Amino acid sequence: MTAATAALVQPVTLAGLPLTSQFVMAPMTRERSPRGVPTAENAAYYRRRAENGVGLIITEGVLVDHPSAGHQPDVPRLTAGAAGAGWRHVTSEVHAAGGRIAAQLWHLGSEREPVDGYPSWTPATMTGRDFDTIIAAYAESARVAVRAGFDAVEVHAAHGYLLDEFLWPVTNPTLAHRDFPAEVVRAIRAEIPSCMPLIVRFSQFKERDYSARIAETPAELATILEGLRAAGADVLHASQRRFWEPVFGGSDRNLAGWAKHLTGLPSITVGSIGLTRGFASSARLRELLERREQGEYDLIALGRVLLGNPAWVTHVGAGRFAEINDYRKEDEVRYF
Ligand SMILES: Cc1cc2nc3c(=O)[nH]c(=O)nc-3n(C[C@H](O)[C@H](O)[C@H](O)COP(=O)(O)O)c2cc1C
Repeated sequence: MTAATAALVQPVTLAGLPLTSQFVMAPMTRERSPRGVPTAENAAYYRRRAENGVGLIITEGVLVDHPSAGHQPDVPRLTAGAAGAGWRHVTSEVHAAGGRIAAQLWHLGSEREPVDGYPSWTPATMTGRDFDTIIAAYAESARVAVRAGFDAVEVHAAHGYLLDEFLWPVTNPTLAHRDFPAEVVRAIRAEIPSCMPLIVRFSQFKERDYSARIAETPAELATILEGLRAAGADVLHASQRRFWEPVFGGSDRNLAGWAKHLTGLPSITVGSIGLTRGFASSARLRELLERREQGEYDLIALGRVLLGNPAWVTHVGAGRFAEINDYRKEDEVRYF
C-alpha cells in the first residue's frame, strides 16, 4: 500500500448516517429490472460493491410513480407491483454487507424518448395540476423507499431531466417555476424521517449539451442551492464529468467544492475517477484525496470504474493495482 492510499478507506458520517467509507457508488441506469421490479441479481450486484469498500450506494435512477416519468420497461420503479418487495431484498443484502443505500428518484421530463408507435412524441408544458400530481408522485416514491429499507433518498435534479429543466435557462427561458425542484424536495422531506439524509444531485452539464450551465456565477449557484437547502436537502451531489475541473474563474474549486462552500452542506464529488489502472498510482488520486482532506468535499462517488471493477476500493487500498482493469465501454453491458 502506498502512503497515498494507506488511509484510503475511512469511516465517515454523512448527515448523521454512519458509513464504512467515504466512497459512494454513483447512480447508474442498468435496465435490468423486468417490468420495473428489482431481482435477486440486482441485489447481488449492489451487495458486491457494498462488500468492497463502498460506504454508500446510490441506486440507478428509479422512476417515480407517474405515467410521464419514463418509458423503459426494465428501469426499476418503486411503486409498480412487487417493486417494493424487490427493493426490500436489495436493501437487506446491502445492509448485510455493512453498506448503506439511497434510492435515486427520477423523472426524465422531455428527455423521455419516443415510444414505439408514438414517434411524434413532443413534451407538453406542465400546468398547475401537473405540478401537484408530480410532486405527489415523488412523495409517494419516497414513502415507499422508506418502507423498503433505504437509508437515504436522492433527488435526480441533474443532467437535463425533468427537475433540471426548470433550472436551465435553455429549457426554461423565463425561469418560471424555477423553485419546482425545491418544492419536490420539500414534499419528500415531509414524507421521510427527519433524520434521513435527503441528497440532491445537480449539474451544470446536460446529457445533450456538455457545455450547458445553470449558473454563470457563484451568486447564481448560491441562489439555486440555498433554495434546495431551505426546502430540506441536507447533502449536495455535484455531478461533473471530471472532478478536477474548476467551475468558475479565479478559483480551483470544483462543483462539489462550491456547493459545500456556498451552503455549508456536505457534498459529494464525482467524475472520471479510476478509469485506468494507472489512476490508482497517479498524482490525480493523491489530488482527489488531498482535496477531500482539505475540506473541499466530503464523499467521493465512483461511476463507470465500478462496473468492471466492483472491488476497486479494496484493490486500491491494498495496493493490488495489477487486479484493476482499465474501463472499457463494453463494461456498461456487463452485469455482475
Ligand atoms: C451506464 C451509465 C448510467 C448512468 N445512469 C445514471 C442515472 O441513472 N442517474 C444519474 O444521476 N447519473 C447516471 N449516470 C452518470 C453517473 O452517475 C456518473 O455521474 C458518471 O458516469 C460520471 O462518473 P464516472 O466518470 O465515475 O463514471 C450514468 C452513467 C453511466 C455510465
